[in-house]
Amino acid sequence: MTDRTTRSARPGPGPVVVVVAGALYDQGRLLAARRSAPAELAGRWELPGGKLEPGESPEEALVRELREELGVETEPGERIPGEWPLKPGYVLRVWTARLLSGEPRPLEDHDQLRWLARHELDSVDWLDQDRPAVAEAARLLPAS
Ligand code: C5P
Repeated sequence: MTDRTTRSARPGPGPVVVVVAGALYDQGRLLAARRSAPAELAGRWELPGGKLEPGESPEEALVRELREELGVETEPGERIPGEWPLKPGYVLRVWTARLLSGEPRPLEDHDQLRWLARHELDSVDWLDQDRPAVAEAARLLPAS
């Protein structure tokens, strides 16, 4: 665990590590990614993303993370309203994203990907912290 994490572990003001994730849409479906690591998260599904690096905007971080993790180029869209606590000192913020090029592949941190239509969203075991974000993201999917 890094100093940064430890410093943020107590409640109150202080640095918060922002994790950005992408609600990536294609043909009326949302992309879900199954984590392969760390052990406590492996097998659970999430919106792909990761930590902001120093000096990055959330949108830049999102584009980088989706490139690294999925091998695709994307264009960030709107922020999905809300902010969700992860482990102490970490918060999750979600942006919509549109696929510009490439076919997503699980290159890093994931071992399976699925495109889910609205009626399929409950078919995977989402990480608890991602569930409210997915519920918000689902509002942008067509009825199915
Ligand atoms: O992918 P990365 O390890 O950079 O993500 C940082 C942390 O954010 C992970 O520990 C993971 O638990 C969390 N995360 C999450 N939901 C997401 C993306 C990341 O809980 N959609």
